[in-house]
Amino acid sequence: MLQHIVTILSAAVAAIAVPTDQSVSGAPIKTIVQLQQNGTQFENLVTRTDGTILATRIDVPEIWWIDPADPTHTRVINIEGDVASVLGIAETSPNVYAFNAGNVTSQGAVDGSFQIWGLDLTHEKPQTYPIARIDRASFLNGIATLDPKTVIVTDTNLGLLWKVDISTGHYEIFLQDPSMAIPEGSSIPAGINGVHIHNGYLYFTNTAQMSLNKFPIAKNGTITGSMQRIAEGFMCDDFDVQPDGTVYLPTAAQNTVIRVSIDGRVQQLAGTADSLAVGGGTAAQFGRGPHQKKTLFVTTSGDRFSPINGTTMEPGKLVAVDLSAVIP
Ligand SMILES: *[C@@H]1O[C@H](CO)[C@@H](O)[C@H](O)[C@H]1NC(C)=O
Ligand SMILES: *[C@@H]1O[C@H](CO)[C@@H](O)[C@H](O)[C@H]1NC(C)=O
Ligand SMILES: *[C@@H]1O[C@H](CO)[C@@H](O)[C@H](O)[C@H]1NC(C)=O
Ligand SMILES: *[C@@H]1O[C@H](CO)[C@@H](O)[C@H](O)[C@H]1NC(C)=O
Repeated sequence: MLQHIVTILSAAVAAIAVPTDQSVSGAPIKTIVQLQQNGTQFENLVTRTDGTILATRIDVPEIWWIDPADPTHTRVINIEGDVASVLGIAETSPNVYAFNAGNVTSQGAVDGSFQIWGLDLTHEKPQTYPIARIDRASFLNGIATLDPKTVIVTDTNLGLLWKVDISTGHYEIFLQDPSMAIPEGSSIPAGINGVHIHNGYLYFTNTAQMSLNKFPIAKNGTITGSMQRIAEGFMCDDFDVQPDGTVYLPTAAQNTVIRVSIDGRVQQLAGTADSLAVGGGTAAQFGRGPHQKKTLFVTTSGDRFSPINGTTMEPGKLVAVDLSAVIP
């Protein structure tokens, strides 16, 4: 999630050279669902093995359950609690999810509003339930599953990772590191943002530092090696990691989707700086259903914080980026 201050930044950001190879930009993009009004936003998503997608809203406390094959039958899951926004979501065991909820207004994230919730889709009717309120949290954003009873959550304001036992609600600070912080004097009020644990590494982005990082982590949560910066120089929010460690991420106000290889090489795949095609991308996940393995689903803010040419925005949307031409 990028705060409203990104608006102020967009001019400066546009001038930063992103080290990309543009040779294969232009993958086909199809809109699956678009919201009705400017200022709306899909914030995060998780793809499901049945081909459907859970997409969260930051502007209202809702999770949209979308079937890309039949978007007219979208179900909206209301979060009935004292929260105004839903952020990161992750599957913790089959068809059971944990997600971050709290209040993110146009003034920013509200201290003391953040909670971890659960969503159970194993019954006919979706069930949501609060798991833990993290009073000291300042801005819970991304979430990753460490094991079926433990999630790791980013705190974008405090610049750290929380570890939460979702079976007891017990939480503690897992790791705080300069690579997760908002650098002093930064005009971007968002540090560590997206998080994913994959194949022995914890990957995270830092929005203010414009970086993608990782460190090795054992299955029991022990950190087994040092912090590594994979690449930097692009806007970033949440992302997907593929089995070989390649990362696919939308570049938020830079309006593109890029691929970062394990050696840090950056390649632009879709979108352009002055187009809303993937305008204000907030998160990306490859499909997990049949015939979706080369389709990257991307949620967007419609550039509401950083209108193109200073004026052009659109309602938030979920799009499918067809990467079959660029994925081996
Ligand atoms: C968060 O927003 C909800 C819904 O508007 C409200 O009921 C709740 O009091 C807010 N919490 C805080 C800490 O501001
Ligand atoms: C966690 O796993 C690491 C790596 O496999 C191992 O060295 C360590 O002893 C384990 N720690 C605990 C508390 O089990
Ligand atoms: C922004 O301005 C550029 C240059 O005038 C133009 O090519 C582009 O189409 C505009 N983009 C939008 C989304 O209006
Ligand atoms: C959103 O804002 C744009 C201007 O950036 C305007 O052209 C468009 O009609 C608005 N869309 C809606 C649904 O209000």
